[in-house]
Amino acid sequence: MNSRFAYALGFSLAWSTAGMATAETVWLDDLNLAAATQGWGDPHKNQSVEGHPLTIGGKRFERGFGTHAAGLLRVNLDGGAQKFSASVGVDDEVNGNAASSVEFIVRGDGRVLWQSGAMRAGAPAKDCEVDLAGVKSLVLEVSDAGDGENFDHADWADAKFETAAGRPATVPAEPPLAFVAPYMLTPAAPATPRINGANVFGVRPGSPFLFTIPATGDRPIKFSAIHLPHGLKLDSVTGQITGTLNKPGQYLVTLRAKNSLGEAEKPFRIVVGNQIALTPPMGWNSWNCFAGAVSEEMVKSAADAMVKSGLINHGWTYINVDDYWQNHRDSQDPTLRGPFRNRDGVIVPNSRFPDMKGMADYIHNLGLKAGLYSSPGPWTCGGCAASWQHEEQDAQTYAKWGFDYLKYDWCSYGEIAAGGDPNAKNIPLWGKTAKDDAGAIFPYQVMGKFLREQNRDIVFSLCQYGMADVWKWGGSVNGNCWRTTGDIVDTWKSLSGIGFKQDQAAPFAQPGNWNDPDMLIVGQVGWGNLHPSRLNPDEQYTHISLWCLLSAPLLIGCDMTKFDDFTLSLLENDEVLALDQDELGKEAMCVLKDGDVRVYEKDLADGGCALGFFNLGPAAANRQFNQLATLGFKGKLRVRDLWRQSNLPDVDAANGILPLTIPAHGVVLYKITAAK
Ligand code: GLA
Repeated sequence: MNSRFAYALGFSLAWSTAGMATAETVWLDDLNLAAATQGWGDPHKNQSVEGHPLTIGGKRFERGFGTHAAGLLRVNLDGGAQKFSASVGVDDEVNGNAASSVEFIVRGDGRVLWQSGAMRAGAPAKDCEVDLAGVKSLVLEVSDAGDGENFDHADWADAKFETAAGRPATVPAEPPLAFVAPYMLTPAAPATPRINGANVFGVRPGSPFLFTIPATGDRPIKFSAIHLPHGLKLDSVTGQITGTLNKPGQYLVTLRAKNSLGEAEKPFRIVVGNQIALTPPMGWNSWNCFAGAVSEEMVKSAADAMVKSGLINHGWTYINVDDYWQNHRDSQDPTLRGPFRNRDGVIVPNSRFPDMKGMADYIHNLGLKAGLYSSPGPWTCGGCAASWQHEEQDAQTYAKWGFDYLKYDWCSYGEIAAGGDPNAKNIPLWGKTAKDDAGAIFPYQVMGKFLREQNRDIVFSLCQYGMADVWKWGGSVNGNCWRTTGDIVDTWKSLSGIGFKQDQAAPFAQPGNWNDPDMLIVGQVGWGNLHPSRLNPDEQYTHISLWCLLSAPLLIGCDMTKFDDFTLSLLENDEVLALDQDELGKEAMCVLKDGDVRVYEKDLADGGCALGFFNLGPAAANRQFNQLATLGFKGKLRVRDLWRQSNLPDVDAANGILPLTIPAHGVVLYKITAAK
């Protein structure tokens, strides 16, 4: 429908309560709701934030605005507005979740005109009526009512204005950014050999060993290794190291790569012990591009693309299947219909995945690793069969098939943790949390234990959105990484809302234990409906720089068969990736704020330190940065621009100045080391 027409429908005539003038009703949902900011998801017209009919306390509303705390919507009233009214409350889609509480606040010209008080899930809607006489600008705010934003799905139902004159219009929180064409900073890798990737690799005693030496340079390259421990062998053509090591301990190896133009070598530490994922996992996951449409063919093509694109030469390793490899509980799609488990209780993949072991072998033969997805409840988030009461059997099956990574969600387990009936038909997939921390931890203890009992190393990735401060206990259940947030989408709001809120979890990151702010949203993404990332190029530089500073697992979320040069250049900058893969494993935190500029600092194993200068504002920020001493730097410093891989003039910590021009929503990423 054309927007002018939609707009006209939004007006209806009513009689003013304020005397003779004719009042018009203007529905909030007919204004541009995209101007709203909110803590999670996108603003929805006439629907909840998750896209369901607006429902509060069992009552359904046809119209309104579905949002999420912390939410703000500014409305310019254009004179003549008389009244704002709405029925507000937490949307029933959160299923009585105890974590969900919000407060609705209406401000006019800076003054609070109405506030709801804290409102909880399931409570009936409250009627809000606000006299707007003389008010010029209105702010509709939803706060988290002081207990965090989890499950704060908030509805402004039946929200409307009565106006005698003028036309209310929402005001975007930020003016639209100027167009930025893609620009590439990463220099091409030299034709001479260079060995990239992490300096350290962890393996458990007796587990199959697979490590492919990531190296750029003209092919053919001949690989060799000095002091490779007994039990391992290196294929000199592919660079794949395989075998097993039985004795715990450390091995200091020198890796070598030689081609017709030269030779490179690099020290490499193999640690045989309890801990794996000594640096954050790097790879690909099917969800952000294919979601519920994934198939074995797509996964194999992704593995092929990881090799053909050259990304394997920069340390990218895992090829992870997300949800929808299992049969679905109620989908009508014939490819998703079939038995959930065989007579022995073994999980049965859906018909799009005819040969799980064959697929894992295919991935391994390319020198890559394979990942899978499940949930502790009976059903995954998408409604496919999950691991409830088959945890041990599933861990054994994944190991038998040859998988190296498990992402383990929370969906449908919430109902069980909250005391519901796991066998009930249509058990809710989303919404419920555990009664207490022990209940939130338990399912991960169970799966963590069974994964550890397998005779292969399976990276354990928890996906429960940060509940019960997962960063404090994820390591104790054998977790290697854990999501700290809800799902990311390819917008600045989502990226910045997640990326710049990681400080509380940061001190808990260490080798083997990583905070996961969710997967990458560069390239062609779209959850089954592909489109180029809606992030502009500067926002994409921010994304990759920030994720590397945060020591985040790096899982590419795009269709890798459709790479463009710009996206590839973001993913193959070895000096930027080296921050993520740094063996010290310290996560960056925000150390300075200056207006819209945030400075993130990450300590590195070589004694250096990375500084990310991010500009969260809508216009370029210029700074003469003179606070190196404040940050603890001393003496003469070497400054390297990591994206451009080039040095700036040395500066003195005491009085040196770093001139910075940071694009809107963009970044300047430097590494600082002592000057020689
Ligand atoms: C949740 C996770 C996503 C994805 C889907 C699959 O939303 O957070 O990353 O795994 O489930 O249904």
